[in-house]
Amino acid sequence: MTLPGLLPIPRTGGLKSLPRPRQWAYNPATVPTNINARCWVEIDLARLERNLLRIRSALPAHIRYVAVVKADAYGHGLAPTAARLMRAGADAFAVANVREAAEIREVGSGWPILVLSAVLPQEDHMLLEYQAMPAVSCMDEVERFAALGREQGRPFSVHLKIDTGMGRLGVWHEGAPALYRAIVEEPALRLDGVFTHFSSADSSADYTELQRSRFLAALESMPGLDPSQLLIHADNSAGIDSLPVGGPFNGVRVGLLQFGVLPYKGSLLSDVHAEPVLSLHSKVGLVKTLPEGAYVSYNRSCRLVRDTRVALICAGYGDGIPTGMSNRGQVLLCGRRCPILGRVTMDQIIVDATELPDLEVGMLATFIGEQGGERICVEEFSAWSGQIPWECYTSITKRVQRVYKADTAI
Ligand SMILES: Cc1ncc(COP(=O)(O)O)c(C=O)c1O
Repeated sequence: MTLPGLLPIPRTGGLKSLPRPRQWAYNPATVPTNINARCWVEIDLARLERNLLRIRSALPAHIRYVAVVKADAYGHGLAPTAARLMRAGADAFAVANVREAAEIREVGSGWPILVLSAVLPQEDHMLLEYQAMPAVSCMDEVERFAALGREQGRPFSVHLKIDTGMGRLGVWHEGAPALYRAIVEEPALRLDGVFTHFSSADSSADYTELQRSRFLAALESMPGLDPSQLLIHADNSAGIDSLPVGGPFNGVRVGLLQFGVLPYKGSLLSDVHAEPVLSLHSKVGLVKTLPEGAYVSYNRSCRLVRDTRVALICAGYGDGIPTGMSNRGQVLLCGRRCPILGRVTMDQIIVDATELPDLEVGMLATFIGEQGGERICVEEFSAWSGQIPWECYTSITKRVQRVYKADTAI
């Protein structure tokens, strides 16, 4: 059946048989690196490096820095981010899966890489190929990873993960000593680290303390455990500021903070002065005036109470602007905050620009970042839609161009 007005698709030969125009050939070298985009993020790698150095200097000297770069380095782009963190002095990397580990190996060799999520059996061979360390949570995994050690002809490195109250990955803390014994008695395995993860480091000091004490008790029940030979780690960005001086801890896993976002208001780390690494921008696509009483965007959730000069911004939820910002969020134009009117749509957002008589098509629109002394930080951006900064960063889609300020001096 052919819909009226449409040409029928040929049944034989079909679209595939059409010759492909020569200019369709993909050549990565032609991908533009200038800001000739409708929506882009700027990533300041010098700030990233500075953040790492500042966080490091706030920590005791023996603490090793495990850079958490999962989910494409929190949307900042894994390869460039990992490269700069290597240069800045990260001791190790933590990722969510073996594909991310493989990407880091492409950037540089030698750095230990820890996989923080469960590894699927079909991914085991990639652990070997890219020499990434899995987190062991159960006896089945001891056997699976020991098989990798036998295959490579030397012990395979793993970390033991203890569930002290997160209820996610890891062996429940009461069963940790038995799993520890199984690992150290298995000649095909080498225990390189023991760790846990806090569920409420940004909201409950008491619960974090309970988790930490369960972890320490589990460590004490592990005969022969030598912290000087292992990485013992628990704290993430929010936990670092409760890092006890002393104890067996010798590593931290830092994600959000290195990208310039404090884990929570009032964190002791406020003194670290981490600077935001990422800013998110678009451009004005159209400026026009709508009369009082007109509705704006889908489902008419906004009705204008005055004649309004509106600006259409060339970004929408297809770029990672949350629909929760509809009628709530703001955008910086000409250095001023302008409210979003109506629903955020897939590719466009409408804002009230009545106060900006000089606004023109092509001008800069900033969602996260600074403009003329005004600033929207990712915490504010995410709060408008009831999200968290991690979520907003990792929701920036692939059509958003990543522009790296790589050469800025630190
Ligand atoms: C196990 C684990 N460790 C460390 C981190 C890093 O946390 P943050 O980004 O708060 O520093 C995460 C983040 O989700 C995680 O899942």
